[in-house]
Amino acid sequence: MRQEDVSQWVKDAQAAFSAATDLDSLKAARLAHAGDKAPISLASRGLGSLSPDEKASFGKIIGDAKAAIAQALATATEKLEAERDKKVLLEEVVDITLPVNRRHRGGLHPISIIKNEVSDFFIEHGYAVAEGPELESGWLNFDALNIPADHPARTMQDTFFVEPVESGMVLRTHTSPVQIRTMLTQTPPIYVICPGRTFRADELDATHSPVFHQVEGLVVDKGITMAHLKGTLDNFARHMFGPDVTTRLRPSFFPFTEPSAEVDIFFNNRWIEWGGCGMVNPKVLQSCGIDTDVYSGFAFGMGLERTLMVRHGITDMHDIVEGDLRFTRQFGVGL
Ligand code: DAH
Repeated sequence: MRQEDVSQWVKDAQAAFSAATDLDSLKAARLAHAGDKAPISLASRGLGSLSPDEKASFGKIIGDAKAAIAQALATATEKLEAERDKKVLLEEVVDITLPVNRRHRGGLHPISIIKNEVSDFFIEHGYAVAEGPELESGWLNFDALNIPADHPARTMQDTFFVEPVESGMVLRTHTSPVQIRTMLTQTPPIYVICPGRTFRADELDATHSPVFHQVEGLVVDKGITMAHLKGTLDNFARHMFGPDVTTRLRPSFFPFTEPSAEVDIFFNNRWIEWGGCGMVNPKVLQSCGIDTDVYSGFAFGMGLERTLMVRHGITDMHDIVEGDLRFTRQFGVGL
């Protein structure tokens, strides 16, 4: 090893580093002139086999050479990194003068949002979501639910009958027929909810709409009591109206539950009627082939428009059905 050789390595390295045009070519030059297999590195490793005197003199020469190479590399790296940063800034510049995209993003209707909220809550609690047709047989909408032929709900005033009237088909007046459909096709344990559209021959006014939405709940299992119903409604109410809401059951009557109750919530400092509920009438269970010595059940049903109106202080049903974007936008995009 001669001193001239070492000087030549340094010159070669300096020339290669300053000739590099970008960081990639610099990397190749670094491997060739300062990497493990570069002559300077091999010489450095070879120092060990020299006599102590040679080691001292060549050690200094090689040390100085390595420092010079490292210095040349650092200078070249700094220069090329600065060039790259400048280029990136130029290429990725954001033109803040471009016009914004004013197209509307679309969103869910508040009724769909609340329907999803209800479904998510019950799915988390192990329920399935059941569906039934909006055009329903009168037998499922009324008879199977123990609603007798002379019941006021069956008169022309409440029900949309469908021609030909002899078909016995109606637009379902509630989501309760889905209870029957479920019990006829499944065996307990049954935990379902059914959110959906319902129809009644009402004029559209501040609190009524001929087309509205309900959510039905049905549980049939061994040992189900009213305490389960109350606990479920409490949790459901807290999910929909916040942690401070309380519920109360008020005795009532529905042909398909026995006993029956109205469920009220204490919200914004007053009691508000929310829906109906009760223990599934054994007659209904039996007509669906369920053994009432083994199983009992509870059911509930409430209006989604009503739930939305109470929760958000909406006083006019027109706002919900008319689809004015100034109203629906307040509920967010909700996608
Ligand atoms: N179907 C009833 C209605 O439309 C609401 C209802 C009451 C549903 C009691 C139920 C219930 O499941 O148990 O007015």
